[in-house]
Amino acid sequence: MLIAVGAVELLLPPGPGPLTRRLAATLRTAVQQGRVAAGTALPPSRTLAAEIGCSRWVVTEAYGQLVAEGYLSATTGSATRVRATATPAAPSAERLRKPQPRPEFDLTPGVPDLASFPRSRWAEAYRRAVLGLPNDLLAGRALVATTAARGILTDHLRRTRQVQEDPTQLSLTTGSAAGMGWLTALLVRLGHTRIAVEDPSWPGLRAVARRGGLSPVPVPVDDQGIVVERLHRHRDVRLVLVTPAHQFPAGVALSAARRLELTDWARRTGGLIIEDDYDADFRYDGTPVASLQGMAPDRVILLGSLSKALSPAIELGWIVMPQHLIMSLLGLDLDRIISPSPLTAEALAVLIDQGWYDQHLRAQRLRYRRRRERLVAALAQQLPGVRVTGLAAGLHLPVSLPPGTRTGEVVRHGAGLGLGLVDAARYRIRRREDPGLVLGFGNLRDSRVDEAVRRLALAMAMAKGAATRHGGRSSGSSALTAG
Ligand SMILES: Cc1ncc(COP(=O)(O)O)c(C=O)c1O
Repeated sequence: MLIAVGAVELLLPPGPGPLTRRLAATLRTAVQQGRVAAGTALPPSRTLAAEIGCSRWVVTEAYGQLVAEGYLSATTGSATRVRATATPAAPSAERLRKPQPRPEFDLTPGVPDLASFPRSRWAEAYRRAVLGLPNDLLAGRALVATTAARGILTDHLRRTRQVQEDPTQLSLTTGSAAGMGWLTALLVRLGHTRIAVEDPSWPGLRAVARRGGLSPVPVPVDDQGIVVERLHRHRDVRLVLVTPAHQFPAGVALSAARRLELTDWARRTGGLIIEDDYDADFRYDGTPVASLQGMAPDRVILLGSLSKALSPAIELGWIVMPQHLIMSLLGLDLDRIISPSPLTAEALAVLIDQGWYDQHLRAQRLRYRRRRERLVAALAQQLPGVRVTGLAAGLHLPVSLPPGTRTGEVVRHGAGLGLGLVDAARYRIRRREDPGLVLGFGNLRDSRVDEAVRRLALAMAMAKGAATRHGGRSSGSSALTAG
């Protein structure tokens, strides 16, 4: 069943296991994933107990458990709330040791094609890096150790993303989220307290911002990207986090008019735009739009990483900052960015220098384009009631489900059928009723696309059947007959 907490609905799964434990797990996961914002008041225990149809004791026990773990705070006489600095509890040693198996049909967004990681090329690049790195640079992660690599990456970004920078503006990181963490500390020091974020958006970066002390302010997205006009309503907000090349998860590009409007907003307010350029290498219907950073290098901070192009396991990303921000760093006693290993940085430089990185990107573009087309065709054939939205780009496909579909139930039945599915609601900050999924096709083998869609059709039919049995609204679509 679904329970409402603040502005989001959470799926309380049916057994097995005691209800207290299931309720605590549902709330804990929602806080860890950033779905329920810090400060959110939880429903009074009596209200939630009535909604679930259980004794009040079950709810107070679950709340008490999470207060003890540091996720919630309770003050006598006022509501139990999500703690501002809800720190995830350490995972159990057993869980740490056990790698979580990936679902048989992995439709989780954000995962690249793991089978086509260029192992031999990476191994060769790394071998050259190990043999070529001077002894002195083996001393550590010092900035100087990555100087050559930063120059090569700067050229690459200038050529492929029209980024305007010199290598002093580029710092290497261990990924976009890590870069965002460091950047948040800097921005808080400079006096920022709030950050506008796209609604919907990936919870990862906004959770990092929130943990670092910036409260996210949701701004809606339409078919042209973030609605800049709505940003003007928040006069005290001078920061915005956006995905202009390919909005995550809506899959649209920021329109030319909005790009101008947004950079204009930044110039007029002295604001800063953080551009999350997470999958811009992958556009299948033409050339990717250039980075926003290239339009307003003094107003845009660009975040990028190898997580989509190669693999998150490489742990290498970058951050490109305006000169004036670099200058303001000088007076601040801020921890240094956590840089990747100089060997990893050097291996990337070899990969780019040899032309192997471009070759890999070309091959991946072709591979993903074909896979996406196959997925779109299979959906049209087996599930005509499902509507595909977004551009032919990236590694994910947003889909709208027929009105009335209980998406949470589809995800749950899908899991039983070996499908890893993600409810589009996971990315929304403000609740909306339109049901949908965000299908990641990056790591779904071509030969499994048709079968994955067949199982999705089955999961939808099962969810619809359950809703009908329980007197719920049916989807009203004839498209749900499983193949
Ligand atoms: C929208 C978005 N931005 C950024 C990232 C990349 O984060 P990182 O470089 O930390 O792996 C992801 C990864 O899933 C993402 O989905």
